[in-house]
Amino acid sequence: MRERSTTGEWDREVPDTKSLLGWSLPEGRDAVPSLTWLVERLRDSRPDWGLLSSLVRFDDERYVRTTLAKTDACELLLVCWMPGQGSLVHDHGGSAGVSLLVQGSLDETRYDWAGDRLLPAVVERAREGDLLIEESDTIHRVHNSSRRGAVSLHLYAPPMEGMTPYDSQVVRAPRPVDVGAGRKRRQRAG
Ligand SMILES: [Fe+2]
Repeated sequence: MRERSTTGEWDREVPDTKSLLGWSLPEGRDAVPSLTWLVERLRDSRPDWGLLSSLVRFDDERYVRTTLAKTDACELLLVCWMPGQGSLVHDHGGSAGVSLLVQGSLDETRYDWAGDRLLPAVVERAREGDLLIEESDTIHRVHNSSRRGAVSLHLYAPPMEGMTPYDSQVVRAPRPVDVGAGRKRRQRAG
């Protein structure tokens, strides 16, 4: 399924990251020391839920991916998925990142190479408040198999360039299992 990027049309409307998350994205190219640092920043954020929900947009045709902020160090994306919508199997062009399920649930399938084919290694269902961690070599697919819309917040460093889709080399995945407590974010208040 194709994605729709709304980067251009949102430039004047998107609030700054400090208002949105309670902190500003670092600026310098080497300002993000590790993936762990990135995960902790998103995990410990105090999002303005009202502000965030005002940015949610769904599209019947494809999932909507909005760049909320981008510096030399990292980028922040909001992705809105209608039921049945999902990404292609993809890598992240060497970037690493973390995704926070803001609303709904998403299935994540991770793939490993077996010769020239990608085989599903792990399939997990992430629910509201869960974090999904994407290493620089992660190849995965994210899909909303639920009956309601899902919203996810993604933080990547460095900003993503040259994502590769792999759908033609893929063997399809089995049913997902829950992400579980080990990767659970703290409970949201309210
Ligand atoms: Fe991804």
